[in-house]
Amino acid sequence: MKNTTLLLFVCVISFTSWSQEIKRKKDDIDVKVSELLSKMSVEEKIGQMTQITVTNFEQKGNPGVIDAEKLKDGIQTYHIGSILNVPNPGAPTVAKWKEVMTTISNEANKTRLKIPVLYGIDAIHGASYTAGATLFPQQIGLAATFNPNLVKRGAEISAYETRASSIPWVFSPDLDFPRNPAWSRIWESFGEDPYLSSRMAVALVDGFENNSFGSKYQVASCMKHYLGYGSTTTGKDRTPSIIPERILRQYDLTIYEAAIKAGAKSVMVSSGEINGTPVHASKHLLTDILKNELGFSGVVVTDWKDIIYLYTRHKVAETNRDAVRIAVMAGIDMSMVPEDFSFYTDLLDLVNKGEVPMSRIDDAVSRILRMKYELNLFENSVANAKDYPKFGSPEHIQEAYNTAAESITLLKNKDAVLPLNKSEKILVTGPTSNSMKYLNGGWSYTWQGENSDVYAADKFTILEAFQNKLGKENVLYTSGADFAKEDDAEIEKAVALAKQASKIVLCLGEKNYTETPGDISNLFMSDSQIKLALALAKLNKPIVLVLNEGRPRLISDFEDKMNAVVQCYLPGNEGARALVDVLYGDVNPSGRLPYNYPRYPNSLEKYNRKYTESISEGEQNNDAKYEKSYYPQFEFGTGLSYTTFTYSNLKIDKTEINDADEINVSVEVTNSGTKAGKETVLLYLTDNFASITPEVKTLKRFEKISLEPKETKTVSFVLKQKDLQFVNNDLKWISEKGTFTIQVSNLNKDFLLKK
Ligand code: BGC
Repeated sequence: MKNTTLLLFVCVISFTSWSQEIKRKKDDIDVKVSELLSKMSVEEKIGQMTQITVTNFEQKGNPGVIDAEKLKDGIQTYHIGSILNVPNPGAPTVAKWKEVMTTISNEANKTRLKIPVLYGIDAIHGASYTAGATLFPQQIGLAATFNPNLVKRGAEISAYETRASSIPWVFSPDLDFPRNPAWSRIWESFGEDPYLSSRMAVALVDGFENNSFGSKYQVASCMKHYLGYGSTTTGKDRTPSIIPERILRQYDLTIYEAAIKAGAKSVMVSSGEINGTPVHASKHLLTDILKNELGFSGVVVTDWKDIIYLYTRHKVAETNRDAVRIAVMAGIDMSMVPEDFSFYTDLLDLVNKGEVPMSRIDDAVSRILRMKYELNLFENSVANAKDYPKFGSPEHIQEAYNTAAESITLLKNKDAVLPLNKSEKILVTGPTSNSMKYLNGGWSYTWQGENSDVYAADKFTILEAFQNKLGKENVLYTSGADFAKEDDAEIEKAVALAKQASKIVLCLGEKNYTETPGDISNLFMSDSQIKLALALAKLNKPIVLVLNEGRPRLISDFEDKMNAVVQCYLPGNEGARALVDVLYGDVNPSGRLPYNYPRYPNSLEKYNRKYTESISEGEQNNDAKYEKSYYPQFEFGTGLSYTTFTYSNLKIDKTEINDADEINVSVEVTNSGTKAGKETVLLYLTDNFASITPEVKTLKRFEKISLEPKETKTVSFVLKQKDLQFVNNDLKWISEKGTFTIQVSNLNKDFLLKK
């Protein structure tokens, strides 16, 4: 007991001195920022707010080679403060990045104030724009691990390898809260639950930044895309969203709030519009809520060309100059212009004519300078490869493998068709079975990820991972289908080979894509793939369907004919090895689905639906037939294992509380099967009656545990008052008196909130 008290005392003291140290560093930086700001001309200040793509500084006809004159023009004439993106043709080596960054840094050092250029990159699943980097699963797979510690470790590695590439700023995490499963960036998000998204957001921000100042192993993160992006009515990228503020506050905003508290240094703004106002033009969202209410003190950067688009696409500004005024006055600190200097020229004119006050410019520039100091760029803007011996190392690769292994989600396993047995003859087929492009998806080496097969040639595709495990001669293979083109000859070939196999591993899914090029008008799996699945199903051989896709493409036309379904999302460079280990039982699957997998295109209910969305579940009428309205193919949280887990003894410490109490919850979980396994314990809460229609259930806590066969663990959670609250029509978080139900697995307990 004495020891525990002493330990607690030591922890409190170290935390306090750590907080004081952070405060001291912050104060120092504030002094430096105001000193530097006081020396800057208006041109230098506006330059800091200007971000240009690196490809603008390439030599004509010489991709990847910096044109010294163009760079000089950008840095000396326009004083630009930031550069982004990857030089052509994509993914330089660490050494090449060093060359590029040295050239940029040398040019910045020739300026009057020697302010370093802040370089930003879309390193969204590892240092994904550096050749030889460790590539992790895409974010949707991270969510499926339900393991924030693992996710944090991945972000640390990603920060380390990005910094090894001399880049200090990543455009990650993606905190979008998508509402339409057709959206082309679902896989960049953490799925459909705000609590899961918040926990994962914090894990990524912690891993990237570690609340540190000046470490050469950490990067600044950039939460994106604030706010309401990916919630379009049509499901198409960058089309309008209609989201009441009450809803934005109850769901979307909570994810940002968590990441801001974790210390995220920057935020990128959504390219979309909400309720008719482009977010880049919304002072309410950017200044009133983000900066003032949430106290966000970091940098607000636009998305690609989005100030120009206020004029050319959204048409809320009559000229580019007007667009610049609207966006800067709304609260934008930096413009990803990024292909010309129009922002600089227009903003300078606006400031000179008094249409944008100097106070707004000073606020923006202070934020940018602060970030540069926090990243220690004034002293360290180019990395020394010797400091990063673990870049792309086996240790890092192992972490990416572990993450992929924990993300893979077993959705169905009829008659225990899985795990496979090494003595069985397997046919591997389907369009996703032999390419790295589909395992990695977009933002991999290049924007759309077209060249993964070249850059990751040494990594295993699904087919190669099978061949590696079983020997080449023991695996039958044909591609079976194209994503788009129907090819009967290929199907016949697959059917003929399947006759020689005892089981079929059918790999279906999607090609690589991101953003608008990934828009689709039909959520169903493509016809050519469905045709292959149905042809193989006629053979009556066990089929294991492997889904390798960024969003849930509908499979209800043939899912009943599949014996097993395994979702591997976009698992990255180590994903195929992890998948095959799961299929053979060397890894016991433990991923959980982070969204409802829809069955039909007109039935897109989320797991936390309202009661009116599932009304026909319990009601029948002699005169009318109801089509089940809530009937997802697989529900949020689904994830099977090769062992079984039994839940017992759900306990709560109070059955009545007042509005200051917490509730302690505990439950016992036993591995009742014969294999060691990992289990995610999910705690849902239902507010049984409320003045704003309550959800059927809402995820409030989770914890992933490991259990040996026959082992039992007690898992404890604490529910706080905030967990009982919702946003009312006055936009206030409130709770109301009444009963609540806690649900963990098949157990539940009620308690009463008294007022
Ligand atoms: C995307 C962002 C990305 C930015 C910079 C935009 O098109 O929407 O997610 O960070 O480009 O590459």
